[in-house]
Amino acid sequence: MTRRPATKTAAKSAARSAPGSAAGPAAADATTTTDAAAIRAAARLSVAPMMDWTDRHCRFFHRQLTGRALLYTEMVTAPAIVRGGARHLLDFDPREQPVAVQLGGSDPRELAQAARIAAQAGYGEVNLNVGCPSDRVQSGTFGAVLMKSPDRVAEIAAAMIAACPVEVTVKCRIGVDDQDPRAVLPAFLEAVAAAGVRRFTIHARKAWLQGLSPKQNRDVPPLDYRLVHEMKHAFPGLHISINGGIETLAEARAQLDTGLDGVMIGRAAYHRPADLLLTADAQVFGAPASAASRAQVVAAMLPYIEAQLAAGGRLHQVTRHMLGLFHGQPGARQWRRILSEQGVAPDAGPEVVEKALAAVSPP
Ligand SMILES: Cc1cc2nc3c(=O)[nH]c(=O)nc-3n(C[C@H](O)[C@H](O)[C@H](O)COP(=O)(O)O)c2cc1C
Repeated sequence: MTRRPATKTAAKSAARSAPGSAAGPAAADATTTTDAAAIRAAARLSVAPMMDWTDRHCRFFHRQLTGRALLYTEMVTAPAIVRGGARHLLDFDPREQPVAVQLGGSDPRELAQAARIAAQAGYGEVNLNVGCPSDRVQSGTFGAVLMKSPDRVAEIAAAMIAACPVEVTVKCRIGVDDQDPRAVLPAFLEAVAAAGVRRFTIHARKAWLQGLSPKQNRDVPPLDYRLVHEMKHAFPGLHISINGGIETLAEARAQLDTGLDGVMIGRAAYHRPADLLLTADAQVFGAPASAASRAQVVAAMLPYIEAQLAAGGRLHQVTRHMLGLFHGQPGARQWRRILSEQGVAPDAGPEVVEKALAAVSPP
């Protein structure tokens, strides 16, 4: 494709009605979405917590694509918040709402304190990580290894619920190692629900704590969607979201049609954000779309990028999350290449984004 000179015109006209702009629907939602009912409604479709990926810039970007879906932070450990003085890890832009924070930890008192701090920071939901299998996490005895200790998770959850005013939820696996998921998952849900948790997201595969890397643990153990569906039948009063391997909005809707309450999407939403999120408001929530096009999303990001740069940030910190925006579209490769090669320069600014957009947009 011939590269045209960058133009600000298309970007500016799209920005006028962009979702993250002052008058857009996302901005309007921001004031109303921290209450429990609204967060639950948003949980019909969520973007998974992903370390190093779903940081605040990524979430702001995703919010331009969907005003409705629930967004999760990366996992933040309770010790980092409580002992490490790393409260800045909880910083977020109110325009990201509805947004939930995910906490990792194993000490009930520490997690309770971290949950209270997170709720004070403005999060509408605090989620406990019972699914992450990495070595670092296992050595702290939290994450997926907690599937072996439902009573401990119940104790943690009870402490968090008592300490914080927003809903406490749990993201778990169907089991770990040689556990029989059909035996342990219902027992786990029952024990943790008895402590007051009403909303679960179940990554529909086991984690193997030895021998598989975290990456392999997202692909190698087979998915068992049926078991998650059975859990919804067994616990109709619980809000249950399914996670793992969902690649399209059609698949997400098919899962919802089985009677599940929510679908959480991770990698597909990150790598192909427009495919998964741009029509989600209409297709999953029956609401008007937040943005009409990918170009409009880019336009909505420009003022945000300018603000980040003015605050001392680097362009690539934001645009690294936007590389997949034009996936499958003509010019997608140029978009990626311009952003990845020119966007990393220390003085790179919005003009790089406009140049990349000019390489993909129709004249
Ligand atoms: C890069 C990356 C980081 C992740 N970090 C977390 C995390 O911090 N907390 C968590 O509960 N799951 C984490 N996960 C797992 C995802 O939340 C999700 O459960 C998993 O990717 C399966 O969903 P998917 O097939 O839709 O990607 C991570 C996944 C990826 C790819």
